[in-house]
Amino acid sequence: MENLHGWLWEDFAELGSTNDYAAGLSAQPPAPRFAVTAVKQTAGRGRRGRSWQSLEGNLFMSLGLEIEQQRWGELVFVISLALLETVRALKPEIDISLKWPNDVLVAGNKISGILLEKGAGMYIIIGIGVNIVSAPAVSGSLLYQAGSLAENGIRTGRVTFLKAFLQQFNCGLERWNRQGFAPVKELWLQAARGVGSEIRVNLPRESLSGIFKGLGDDGCLLLETAGEIKKIAAGDVFFRQD
Ligand code: BTN
Repeated sequence: MENLHGWLWEDFAELGSTNDYAAGLSAQPPAPRFAVTAVKQTAGRGRRGRSWQSLEGNLFMSLGLEIEQQRWGELVFVISLALLETVRALKPEIDISLKWPNDVLVAGNKISGILLEKGAGMYIIIGIGVNIVSAPAVSGSLLYQAGSLAENGIRTGRVTFLKAFLQQFNCGLERWNRQGFAPVKELWLQAARGVGSEIRVNLPRESLSGIFKGLGDDGCLLLETAGEIKKIAAGDVFFRQD
């Protein structure tokens, strides 16, 4: 185990899912903040029961952190902003944007995914996958076109990226703890794709089209349809050209 910017970090050659391992660890946490990574992940999970194709060379990390449950909805924006800042620091001119609720897009393609799950007690397990060297090929099970940092001219390694990310995340957490959600929301909206334009949101039982008007104070998506603003708490967003 190694201390990386205040996070006690353990790296494994192979795990089923880093989230499962970190959730187990949260029952007896080795430190208040801990990080688990694996070179190979054999049962990576995505949001809404999807699987996460875990290609070797990419980053699979899970962080354990204690946060009151009522703040979890805001946390995802702090995380995606930290991912954006980490990529930008590697290549400032890169075409990068954020997609509600928690995707980071490079040249319009998804390069990372975030899966938040409950751990023991007040622990939240923050699972993050970053396509460092390669992206899964498009297939029926893939909801969005994926991309990688390597194909966008960024040469980095999973551990280098992890260290840089933890530094950005620490800064983001500090700002959020000190100043609340307002500056997080502001920064997220500056980097968001599709604000003010037409989007489609797939919900479990219906699909809604409308204008993406921004974020509510709780992080929900504001969608204008038929002159009415709808607040959407969870769904999959598609842009016109998707
Ligand atoms: C998504 O569906 O976009 C979220 C994907 C999250 C994948 C990461 S990889 C590390 C961690 N372990 C898992 O099993 N899933 C997350």
